[in-house]
Amino acid sequence: MLNSVIQANPLREGLGSRTAPESCTLVIFGATGDLTHRKLIPALYNLAADGTLPPAMSVVGFARRDKTDDGFRGELREAARKFSRQGINEELWTSFATMISYHRSEFHDITGYESLAKRLDTLDATMGTRGNRLFYLAAAPDQFEVILENLRKSGLNQGKNGGWARVIVEKPFGTDLPSARHLNDLVEDAFPEADTYRIDHYLGKETAQNIMVLRFANALFEAMWNARYIDHVQITASEPLGVEGRAGYYDKSGALRDMVQNHLLQLLCLTAMEPPTGLDADAIRDEKVKVLRSLRPLEGAEVAKHVIRGQYGAGAINGKRVAAYRDEANVDPESATETFVALQINVDNWRWAGVPFFVRVGKRLPKGGTEIAVHFKSVPPVLFKATGEAVDDNVLVIRIQPDEGISLRMSAKMPGASLRIEPVRMDFHYGTSFGKATPEAYERLLLDAMSGDPTLFARRDEVEQAWKFVDAIHKAWAESSEDLNFYASGSWGPAEAEDLIKRHGATWRRL
Ligand code: BG6
Repeated sequence: MLNSVIQANPLREGLGSRTAPESCTLVIFGATGDLTHRKLIPALYNLAADGTLPPAMSVVGFARRDKTDDGFRGELREAARKFSRQGINEELWTSFATMISYHRSEFHDITGYESLAKRLDTLDATMGTRGNRLFYLAAAPDQFEVILENLRKSGLNQGKNGGWARVIVEKPFGTDLPSARHLNDLVEDAFPEADTYRIDHYLGKETAQNIMVLRFANALFEAMWNARYIDHVQITASEPLGVEGRAGYYDKSGALRDMVQNHLLQLLCLTAMEPPTGLDADAIRDEKVKVLRSLRPLEGAEVAKHVIRGQYGAGAINGKRVAAYRDEANVDPESATETFVALQINVDNWRWAGVPFFVRVGKRLPKGGTEIAVHFKSVPPVLFKATGEAVDDNVLVIRIQPDEGISLRMSAKMPGASLRIEPVRMDFHYGTSFGKATPEAYERLLLDAMSGDPTLFARRDEVEQAWKFVDAIHKAWAESSEDLNFYASGSWGPAEAEDLIKRHGATWRRL
């Protein structure tokens, strides 16, 4: 059992229901990789510090490199020190580290899984993990197939003694529709859909979860959340970071696969979906997939018109010179991979007919931030016309990160004898209103998987539908890369992206 320094808290509040994370063993495939160090272990450590881990837990790292348990724990300690949002407390770490062990094996070697099965039985007996197993596929995606096959062959895809077995699959979930379908089939051979957790870490972000609450718990907004009152929506994810040593993956992926197929389409779904029939996972995911099915396909000539792709050139970020994408290590010097994409997406359903969703994502932009900005229609241009004062439209901004919160731009009269109209902001900040730090997305998602709540994970049909939309764009792009635009690092992307939104009479917001 966990050492007494770690307080176990059996209850957590889910988006849908109140469930408790259940005692289990988490097996991480690819445990020596970046994700384990930067995200998974710091998240587990934060949960331990907050007392929200299940009553009994063990973590087994499964990877190919030779390591002792102690050597592995030492590396993870360093990772938690560097990446945990609450720093490291020695007493807590020592207690936390007792649940971690290392299992060396090649991914293709079935004997490694057989010995893992024995090890998990022993852990059940010594740690009290009750035959519940959570497998996390954090290895390179080309290893997923063999891992899933060996989990099935070794019988590890079944819980022990009445316990459960679940699998978490990290992104990228395929590279196009056929590969995603193939991966879905492989997963399905080993685990039923109900035990499959496809990660999209944006769904674990606190403010992404708040979109539903904002929309459906406030009569004020929901009443106006439609084409009658909304002019357009802007969804932006902007990063000053470049490719950061991930060129091997990124140069084959590009911004559309890396961010739009998953994170940004998920944000669009949460913004556009109809009220679900309940808060259970399938009710919510049913509504999201309906939005994906309503997206007007962007194909053929429509792509050049409605999708702008860009690649960063050299420039400056925060006053520091940075290299062009093509000059980054391991990037093809003639690469046509997009590091920026701006799209006009139409949701062809009753609620959103005629309301464009402008979606923009890019690396090496001046400022980091993700937001959804809902631009309301103008008031009739009559009453204040004679004063010559411009009246700005209302804009509701949901800040996903950083400085999580919501703001509403309104027009107000400036104090004074004459009638001057100025835009003002009503602002809500999570930090000040709730006075506590926002948990990391992976904390929430790991807890949900341990609790058996898949609400914040993508369902098979969602992933496939999103690929269908994105594949049509790639198909058009594959025919010619003439429309690849270059932009200076530290700028807001290619001028063509400004033209895209200008055609609608709008401009992109500056974050
Ligand atoms: C990942 C992408 O899924 O999300 C990265 O692969 C991107 O390219 C990252 O930088 C952004 O996540 P966050 O949480 O920092 O906004």
